[in-house]
Amino acid sequence: MRDADRPDDDGLCNASQRAEAAEDRGTSPAGAPTFGDVVATRFHRRELMKGVLGVGAITAALGPAALASRTAAAQTAAATPSFGFRELSSTPTDRAEVAAGYDADVLIRWGDAVLADAPAFDPRHQSGAAQARQFGYNNDYLGYFPVPGASDPSRHGLLCVNHEYTNEELMFPGIGRQDAGGPLGRARAFSGMTPELVAIEMMAHGGSVIEVRREDGRWQVVAGSRYARRITAETAMEITGPAAGHPRMRTAADPAGRRVLGMLNNCAGGITPWGTWLSCEENVNGYFTGRLPEGHAEAVNYRRMGIPGRWYNWGDHVDRFNLEKEPNEANRFGWVVEIDPFDPASIPKKRTALGRFKHEGAAGIVGRDGRYVLYSGDDERYDYVYRFVTAGRVTGDRARDRDLLDAGTLSVARYNADGTGDWLPLVFGEGPLTQANGFHSQADVVIETRRAADLLGATRMDRPEDVEANPATDKVYVMLTNNSRRKPEEVDAANPRADNRFGHIVEMLPDGRDHAAPRFTWDILVRCGDPSVATVGATFNSRTSQDGWFGMPDNCAIDADGRLWIATDGNFPSRTGRNDGVWAMETEGAARGTAKLFFKCPFGAELCGPEFTPDGETFFVAIQHPGEADPEDARATPATFENPATRWPDFAPDMPPRPSVLAITRQGGGKIGS
Ligand code: FEO
Ligand code: CA
Ligand code: CA
Ligand code: CA
Repeated sequence: MRDADRPDDDGLCNASQRAEAAEDRGTSPAGAPTFGDVVATRFHRRELMKGVLGVGAITAALGPAALASRTAAAQTAAATPSFGFRELSSTPTDRAEVAAGYDADVLIRWGDAVLADAPAFDPRHQSGAAQARQFGYNNDYLGYFPVPGASDPSRHGLLCVNHEYTNEELMFPGIGRQDAGGPLGRARAFSGMTPELVAIEMMAHGGSVIEVRREDGRWQVVAGSRYARRITAETAMEITGPAAGHPRMRTAADPAGRRVLGMLNNCAGGITPWGTWLSCEENVNGYFTGRLPEGHAEAVNYRRMGIPGRWYNWGDHVDRFNLEKEPNEANRFGWVVEIDPFDPASIPKKRTALGRFKHEGAAGIVGRDGRYVLYSGDDERYDYVYRFVTAGRVTGDRARDRDLLDAGTLSVARYNADGTGDWLPLVFGEGPLTQANGFHSQADVVIETRRAADLLGATRMDRPEDVEANPATDKVYVMLTNNSRRKPEEVDAANPRADNRFGHIVEMLPDGRDHAAPRFTWDILVRCGDPSVATVGATFNSRTSQDGWFGMPDNCAIDADGRLWIATDGNFPSRTGRNDGVWAMETEGAARGTAKLFFKCPFGAELCGPEFTPDGETFFVAIQHPGEADPEDARATPATFENPATRWPDFAPDMPPRPSVLAITRQGGGKIGS
């Protein structure tokens, strides 16, 4: 979700700004080591006495993790090719642009047909029934699966797409902003949000499975595909793992606590080795309204998750989203959902063993002994980085592997000041996770993952978004988008800047290059922002051009050659002089920390879902919420259906901007970015 302006609480103008505010608030308790503690344990008194090094310079220069990862970098440098494309200008535009020599073609847009019987898109006469057959709103994660039996697995596949949330002010004519007083106003009106508009919103959430094929160089959606599927906020799903059937998961509509309708705010995700799509529920708090009854047992749990967020008025029309009518429904959201994309009749499964929080993504890698290891960031200011290791091993037999995510160990990261780190297991009965602290079973631990992690002393991070392992080096990259609320006394080695507006990227290396190991070393790859402004404290390699730096890293992708690509969320002309986009990032050798602009979004959009085909010759990207206003400009020119910041991609006067998926290919063929 968009990194927009940051009012304290309510009165926000659209869903992305409401998300931003929630992420901004931060609900994890203070108590992390102070910068003074960090310095005291990490550095010699003599260095301190010199008193000239900035926090970042110290962090970057010293420590065993830095040394260890630099040694590893030196070993792999020769094997990692660098980027050969000609860099794009960062000048903001109202349309998408890719580096010279590449094409970026629209593959599918909001409202295009997914199911064969979908009606033509007409945004002025939209309905829930139509939307349930059409491509949803705000495409986020993209997962590419080769179609079984494809003659070329990189030219014929399924694309699984998350539809994270809706921008009612850009989707619906005459609705405008959902607050009465502009971004800093206080009255939330939901004026004009009828049951039918709510139904459209609910059907525009969830996900899509589309079949895609590259013929004569161009990618097309296969019409009438037998794989085509829309998943919405009403699709029946199964609850599995430790929380399944627990009384806290039971509702009037589901007294067994094992069946839930829909998935919400699905942000990033992952692909398992057994060919399933993991779709992650992120800001689920925003969908709930009403108040819990006085003294309700879920009060502490819900407060830690920001429930009710009241960003949408679904609870006015659908009882289960109103806490007064259904107090347990909110425990049934905030999970990782596993979906079999090859069977449109399959029932998605909410895998509760992976914990309940604001999951950004769930990228994984097979560990040394064959267990599957998933990494997931909890995207809120001061929240945590998690890892899940399956109990069983990946066998390669799909039928045997399909429920691997129901048993395993969830852990949370602690980044020590000496450049080492520990995975702290979230296991009922161990350490503080006992009845004395209100945990009576592993179900309680996973339902209240955040509170359990608080008690273990996890490191409070600057909004962890994507966390992905590079199979070529076993280094794990953590995108930390920003945290402008971090105070100087809250700085720590892994989050080294107060008022961190531009974010940074942490690089972790598991001990023995074993992703299931209990410990790791870590380093900071780059602190983001404008390197020409000394007070920003950015640390891009000096080879980075004025177009090449960025702020707010969010999603990432690692290509077939083990190179890192960064997608951003929150660059605006007023903030960084650029739109969001994709930057290629060198990670090894002398060029380490050099970034280069490859693709830029149209005005108002964030870049989501970067995904390569296996051959590295196609790069799919998702353009989310094009047409939003620059938040620093929002009071003067609110972006609405009638007055968006751009009408990309159609540029038709009667058509609003449309979130869309693009396929990027190289003219004349070849790998992206080589
Ligand atoms: Fe949905 Fe954390 O971005
Ligand atoms: Ca984001
Ligand atoms: Ca997003
Ligand atoms: Ca994101």
